[in-house]
Amino acid sequence: MPSNRIITIDGPAGSGKSTVAHLLAERLGIDYLDSGAMYRAATLLALKRGIDPADGETLAPVLEEATLRFDWSKSPPPLCLDGEDVSTAIRTMEFSSQVSEVARQGVIREVLVRQQQRIASEHPHLVTEGRDQGSVVFPDALVHFYLHADPAVRARRRVDQLAGQGIEVQLEEITADIERRDRIDSTRTVGPLVRPEGAVDIDSSSMSIEEVVDVMAGEVESKLSSEEGTSC
Ligand code: DC
Repeated sequence: MPSNRIITIDGPAGSGKSTVAHLLAERLGIDYLDSGAMYRAATLLALKRGIDPADGETLAPVLEEATLRFDWSKSPPPLCLDGEDVSTAIRTMEFSSQVSEVARQGVIREVLVRQQQRIASEHPHLVTEGRDQGSVVFPDALVHFYLHADPAVRARRRVDQLAGQGIEVQLEEITADIERRDRIDSTRTVGPLVRPEGAVDIDSSSMSIEEVVDVMAGEVESKLSSEEGTSC
């Protein structure tokens, strides 16, 4: 890969972004950034410090002071908050409504967008996924993807994934959670979920993870070879 190659994958909750982004990064031999984990860790920080997740003005300076670091020696890189691996703690189900509350606040997004751009300056070959990675954080990325799927398909996948971890949940509960998160993510005023301009649109409703990764890797390769053809 040439230098400074960022690939962004944005899309709604449950579209498979994390799995696909991690596999694509492995296929390309580059790093993987899960920006949603950073919003989740900011929420955990609020809860640990007794700060209301809706109080971004209080949380933002605390977040700035905290040490939020990925352990890049592992794949996927676990996220450490003040020296503690919080990768498992930030994945619990009851967390998601509070995360949306934190993620809708401009002051928090400013802190995390800056940290994501700093990470990219230290890891210039990166597959990054989230809601605003192509539209706000890395508008000049090599390739932008917009990955989505039918809400019913996303809910079913999530139920199956949780069942695989021994967690029983109702399909209706998950569908309602996904629809609520879609609504919050796409209607917030700062960094809403949008399809980035010029993004490659992938509807994964009837695709396997491997098929999605194949399509994405093909797009990246053709972009790189078209660039090679034009340089002199
Ligand atoms: O992708 P995820 O479910 O781990 O994201 C967790 C939350 O963070 C979710 O409410 C969406 C939000 N998020 C965001 O607002 N911007 C991002 N770049 C990534 C996630």
